[in-house]
Amino acid sequence: MYQVIARKYRPQAFAELISQQHIKTTLENAITQNRIAHGYIFSGQRGTGKTSVARIFARCLNCEQGPTAAPCGKCASCTEISSGSAMDVIEIDAASNRGINEMRELRESVRFRPARDRYKVFIVDEAHQITSEAFNALLKTLEEPPEWVVFVLCTTESHKIPSTIVSRCQQFSFRSVDFAELVARMEWILAQEGITADADALAVLARAGEGSVRDSLSALDQAIACCGKNLVAAEVRTLLGMFSLESLGSVTHALAEGNSQKMFDVVAELEANGRSLQHFARELARHFRNLLVVKIAGGETRLVAASPAEQQTLAQAAAPFTEEDLTRYLQLSLDLFRDLQSSLQPRLHLEIGLLRMVQAGKLLPIEEALANLGGSGPGGAVVKAAPPNPPAAPPPAGDLRSRLHAALSEAKLTHLADALEHSQMTESPNEVVFTAPKMYQMFLKEPEFEAQAKRAAGRPVRVVIKVAEIKVGEAAESAPGIKSKPAPPPDGEAATRALANPEVKRFQEIFPDAQVRTVRNLKDN
Ligand SMILES: Nc1ncnc2c1ncn2[C@@H]1O[C@H](COP(=O)(O)OP(=O)(O)OP(=O)(O)O)[C@@H](O)[C@H]1O
Ligand SMILES: [Mg+2]
Ligand SMILES: [Zn+2]
Repeated sequence: MYQVIARKYRPQAFAELISQQHIKTTLENAITQNRIAHGYIFSGQRGTGKTSVARIFARCLNCEQGPTAAPCGKCASCTEISSGSAMDVIEIDAASNRGINEMRELRESVRFRPARDRYKVFIVDEAHQITSEAFNALLKTLEEPPEWVVFVLCTTESHKIPSTIVSRCQQFSFRSVDFAELVARMEWILAQEGITADADALAVLARAGEGSVRDSLSALDQAIACCGKNLVAAEVRTLLGMFSLESLGSVTHALAEGNSQKMFDVVAELEANGRSLQHFARELARHFRNLLVVKIAGGETRLVAASPAEQQTLAQAAAPFTEEDLTRYLQLSLDLFRDLQSSLQPRLHLEIGLLRMVQAGKLLPIEEALANLGGSGPGGAVVKAAPPNPPAAPPPAGDLRSRLHAALSEAKLTHLADALEHSQMTESPNEVVFTAPKMYQMFLKEPEFEAQAKRAAGRPVRVVIKVAEIKVGEAAESAPGIKSKPAPPPDGEAATRALANPEVKRFQEIFPDAQVRTVRNLKDN
């Protein structure tokens, strides 16, 4: 009969257990020092070894050669415990036996000495499901336990166990297992099964369990059923609906370039391949989390479930961004994930979400932003440093802009005139800066544009081209002749919060004449 891998490879001794080192050591010491408590609580994530350790512990206590930290595995007690038929090791599933009657029976049973073995071990699974009356009955037993009983309460939700019980037990918390150890365990299992797998496939499976060994091993079963004797990463990924680092990387590339167009391509490709958009959003959030952790750790870290090679890829992907950028993207991707859960239009939501990330952009630290502004630095310091009567005082910006526009049109350079219309211009004594969306950048960078701009300025200036998304209307607002009147300050809850923001305040101190015109909540665009 076929036995699923998780059960076939249930650890039978402490040596086979991965992670949970602290638990192994403590229990081994308790056994060798003969300090056995009557109550234990094993808590922690599902599939991390609670039931397995409870059974190993029962073997340690009841092995013919014991009590011993290294049970023989051959005697009647050992073999019966593994097969679940030992008289004195009683497993109770509290999910289905949670009532007072069951606990009364249990109390009865507790009073009798073990039939054959040293201890009567009660392993209670899903212990948090026991009713409160039943807990009371259990409490009585724990208050005056016969010397031969040991209770092991296993639970994924230890906070639901009454404190009166907790205080009479030793508690062990089982951790999510370590990525590298899990990969090694699966490698070993596959060797026993005569199956090969590439390193990436193992990494995908290890991640699929999200820290639960059982879930990873179930995924492994599924992969073997689907792919046969040789597991290949791409197939395993498709099977489990996971996404490769490359496909997640296309989002980060687009963000690094500020490229909205690419985001539509990403979504189109997902749709074309019939991938789940919800799942993609979830993986994306996880990806940003990993990028952030790798960025902060600055080297290989156990906090990310990824192989050393994958961690390098992550580090490279994180390089163009700051911690703040990544934190913002993580937040936006979590919002996106949440929105997608209930969305009837997942494609639209995903597209909007990804565009929002592009728009949220890479915020420059304020000092860097100021340095980039060149002439108009804090308090006009650079302007002050210029000669009091510059030989060629800059003509007003509007003039330069319209002169340049006229010159470009006259020279039939309509694509350059068009690019100018879509850009914002700022001018200082020795520099003119044009800021435009990325699609116009290559036009503005043409030598002809620079030459025309210099000619229109009528003095030696540096022409600087910058890329930034400009909202419709903004470029026109700085167009010649249109002088907007001071807008009333925005109001509303979002505006109040924005105006109270320390960064905004700093800007206002540095640019006392600046006004906040609109406050846009990126969340309800
Ligand atoms: N720490 C571990 N080392 C090796 N294998 C493990 C470990 N934890 C779990 N496994 C594997 O996962 C299977 C399930 O483990 P176990 O039943 O002990 O988990 P659990 O913590 O009791 O889970 P649950 O909370 O769902 O009851 C085992 O049969 C074994 O194959
Ligand atoms: Mg269990
Ligand atoms: Zn034995």
